[in-house]
Amino acid sequence: MIKDFVLTAANVPAVHHFVTENTLGRQIASRFVAGETLDMAMPVVHELTRRGVHVSLDHLGENTTTTAEAEAAARDYVTILERINATGADANISIKLTALGLDIGEDVCLRNVRLVLDEACKYHIFVRIDMEGSKYTEPTLRLTHMLHEEFADASAVTGGCVGTVVQSMLFRSADDVARLVEAGIRVRLVKGAYREPSAIAFSDKLDVDENYRGLMHTLLLKGVYPAIATHDERLVVEATRFAREHGIAPARFEFQMLYGIRRDLQDRLVAEGYQVRIYVPYGTQWYPYLTRRMAERPANLFFVVSNLWRG
Ligand code: FDA
Repeated sequence: MIKDFVLTAANVPAVHHFVTENTLGRQIASRFVAGETLDMAMPVVHELTRRGVHVSLDHLGENTTTTAEAEAAARDYVTILERINATGADANISIKLTALGLDIGEDVCLRNVRLVLDEACKYHIFVRIDMEGSKYTEPTLRLTHMLHEEFADASAVTGGCVGTVVQSMLFRSADDVARLVEAGIRVRLVKGAYREPSAIAFSDKLDVDENYRGLMHTLLLKGVYPAIATHDERLVVEATRFAREHGIAPARFEFQMLYGIRRDLQDRLVAEGYQVRIYVPYGTQWYPYLTRRMAERPANLFFVVSNLWRG
């Protein structure tokens, strides 16, 4: 599968070096990434707000290997939260537990996430814990459940100030959704961007999509302000049809899309009265994020290769 090939090739150090040191690599990244600093990202946030969409800011970074790096990532998030609060930006944040030290130890990670959540809850800003590769599914869900209870009373945010993500490519996701819904935790539903073994994940895209459809119905019916995160127009249309048929008001859920992808669909949904949130990543650590965007859509890759060929 091309997705597996791209994700494997991206790990080869020479490929990494070539893309990150190449001007074209940076140009391609700028389609999906809102600059390298918070000062560059904030005007993008305000521009998106003018278009009527909400934002989730992600400071790029994952798999930190030292406690100092993980603490620095947490401090960066505190700075982002202060900036969102000070400017009144219509934004929440998305974090990755491996950026905050999950590979080093759960104690390190928890200390850093608590720092971020203390600040976020104080400002009533929601924090989404992104879902990473399947090695992290179990700890991510366990920590989310724990933190949801711990911070339950700390904020006026609907469903509490922390939520997470479920990937429809994993066999386990129906059970995970059931437990998250039962606990009243907000869920963002995605298909899944990582390479996973066939023992635990659907390898046929049709199955991933079909599972998405079923989980989406469950979340729309029973979830707390679920986020339907996809650019798949058929699923988006299905969500609107299902919500209409079941009397679920547009204010009770939101669509989410990635910065730089399907702007036409984003604008159409806003015009139709739906809530739309754009995931806006920024920072210097854009390489892993970019490779996942390339792997999702071979056309992106062909565009890169043909430009490299032309020099
Ligand atoms: P699909 O891949 O079937 O694409 C449907 C259509 O969307 C394509 O035909 C194309 O038109 C367009 N499209 C999709 N990807 C594109 C791209 N890269 N470039 C250009 N066009 C593209 N994953 C994860 O594992 N953990 C997470 O925490 C998150 N978080 C997250 C947040 C948000 C807001 C979104 C939208 C997505 C994620 N993802 C994620 C990524 C997700 O798992 C998935 O890989 C992508 O959304 C692509 O899948 P689609 O649902 O868009 O469908």
